[in-house]
Amino acid sequence: MSPASAPRAGALRPAVIAGTGSFAPERVMTNQDLQAIVDTTDEWIVSRTGMKERRIAGPGTATSDLASEAARRALADAGLAAGDVEMIVVATITPDYPFPNTACVVQDKIGATKAFCMGLEAACSGFVYAVETARNFIAAGAVTNALVIGAEKMSSILDWQDRATCVLFGDGAGAVVLKAAAPGERGILTASLGSDGSLTDLLLVPAGGSRKPATGGTVAAREHFLRMSGKEVFKHAVTNMVRAAQTAIARAGLQVADIDWIIPHQANLRIISAIAERLGMPAEKCIVNVQTYGNTSGASIGLALDEAVRDGRIRKGQKVLFVAFGGGFTWGAMVLEWAKGAEG
Ligand code: COA
Repeated sequence: MSPASAPRAGALRPAVIAGTGSFAPERVMTNQDLQAIVDTTDEWIVSRTGMKERRIAGPGTATSDLASEAARRALADAGLAAGDVEMIVVATITPDYPFPNTACVVQDKIGATKAFCMGLEAACSGFVYAVETARNFIAAGAVTNALVIGAEKMSSILDWQDRATCVLFGDGAGAVVLKAAAPGERGILTASLGSDGSLTDLLLVPAGGSRKPATGGTVAAREHFLRMSGKEVFKHAVTNMVRAAQTAIARAGLQVADIDWIIPHQANLRIISAIAERLGMPAEKCIVNVQTYGNTSGASIGLALDEAVRDGRIRKGQKVLFVAFGGGFTWGAMVLEWAKGAEG
């Protein structure tokens, strides 16, 4: 390695997840509730998606409110004061505003006055992208800690007249605190991220950006709501999530059998089952909460991680795999050695 490309002293430090937190709004919307809104049935939703209910935020609640509560819980779990946070990344496709970024709003709400703040938009892969981004800031020595949040108020971009999409999503937030690893700690081992921008049209909100700014016409045409070609998305999701998982596992020098837990993006139980099957991973190793939260997009992995850590399933020393897929298309996988709590 030439001196110019050699890492400087203290650089390339590993990062560990030092705390987790999550939050979901109180209001539960069941499949039965949806039957009163669109032409659907509990049987159709459960058999196609595994979802039974989801949480829906009230009109006075913004994504930053969900994010801030998850963040407070993650900071408490990590024993880190808000005033000591150095970097905040919020992954979301339902930001409070087109700009400024939602991380700035969260900074103000939680009092993280020292942090710099950025938003990250990678749809349902957002949490994995955001953790990988923060990990690299820590690895490079730019910061010693980071607060990473995936948060969504998906209900604000759903077309409640479109039964093919409105039954699938919910609101929530998941957060983690990353810290530079102490000697001997391993934490995040590897990641594999990818994108295919040629397939943008299969999953998007068509209007409201610079291509099609909001007009009376775009509102009337319901173009500010999420649109999705479900069948196409399904196929691409399975293929790319499996490939990303295999790449991240191989980069870590591990086999699929070495992974203790897989936390897939909670898009759909059938997608999760297909991924587990293709990876050759038993269903018992999948952390699944899609039945209670639906698809919370960028929030889903953080939310599922927090639940599994707090109920004692994920234990110190175990290998955990995150894998996600979303609009863009974007996908990503990450392998971690869990560094906190009781030994597994
Ligand atoms: N209730 C009842 N019927 C519904 C319905 C609903 N909520 N939504 C769609 N249907 C109907 C369709 O109109 C269609 O009827 P038709 O055959 O008369 O035209 C029929 O059900 C089958 O629709 P189809 O889209 O073929 O269903 P599917 O088996 O592909 O399942 C999804 C639909 C959306 C559940 C599935 O495609 C999927 O999960 N895709 C991936 C979505 C996803 O996870 N996206 C996020 C990735 S990050």
